[in-house]
Amino acid sequence: MPLSTAIRPADSERPSGPGAPDTRKARFWDRIARKYAADPIADMAGYEFTLQRVQGLLTPEQDVLEIGCGTGSTALRLAPFTGRLLATDVSSGMIAIAREKLAAQPLPQLSFAVADADAPMARPGEYDAVLAFNLLHLVTDLDRALALATQALRPGGLLISKTACIAEMNPLIPWLAIPLMRAVGKAPHVLCFDAETLKAAMVRQGLEIDAVERHGTQGKDIRVFIVARKPG
Ligand SMILES: C[S@@+](CC[C@H](N)C(=O)[O-])C[C@H]1O[C@@H](n2cnc3c(N)ncnc32)[C@H](O)[C@@H]1O
Repeated sequence: MPLSTAIRPADSERPSGPGAPDTRKARFWDRIARKYAADPIADMAGYEFTLQRVQGLLTPEQDVLEIGCGTGSTALRLAPFTGRLLATDVSSGMIAIAREKLAAQPLPQLSFAVADADAPMARPGEYDAVLAFNLLHLVTDLDRALALATQALRPGGLLISKTACIAEMNPLIPWLAIPLMRAVGKAPHVLCFDAETLKAAMVRQGLEIDAVERHGTQGKDIRVFIVARKPG
């Protein structure tokens, strides 16, 4: 399917057909969705710092797309500061929990949909900001996911991301621990890159890097926060 073909979120919830989420990819996340929702955030101070930082980049006039939103906690926190916010995830289990939370805390500007960040889900130039938190190391094809996110942005729009850079961990983790855990279904597919590689991939899509930060408050932080801008 050409990148320019727009797939609406409602379409992406069909069980098959162009743009349908890959159910094999979602299986791991569907299985752990309830546990993921129940687990406490490991570095709450770092998370709150990121939320404040992102809030400062958003305005109520903006249309925002979140990819890989999980159970929607971040979208629920950010939606009061945005215009329309569509938060998406490949896992229908994650989105079911997000919708339960939204039903308990209705926000008219926020909606959730099942959609794969490796497939088109927006019209070209539809959004002022695309958010990707703890996602870009999990997509199948980083260049394609970044191309799709960039395509979804209006000129001047922002790709705001926070991403685990697995190549910055002890090499035993990507080369031994993760493969072993994957073999027994305890870890998802992950891409192994460092922050420089991620930045270079964004620049390849024509994005300009506005900020590169680390928000962790508990020792070495492998998660890089990047604000990248589509030239306008
Ligand atoms: C580590 S969780 C992060 C969730 C949330 N963004 C957060 O920061 O808490 C990763 C999420 O990405 C989703 N995911 C993995 N691959 C994806 C893909 N190709 N497209 C969309 N979502 C994906 C998973 O279902 C999961 O909900």
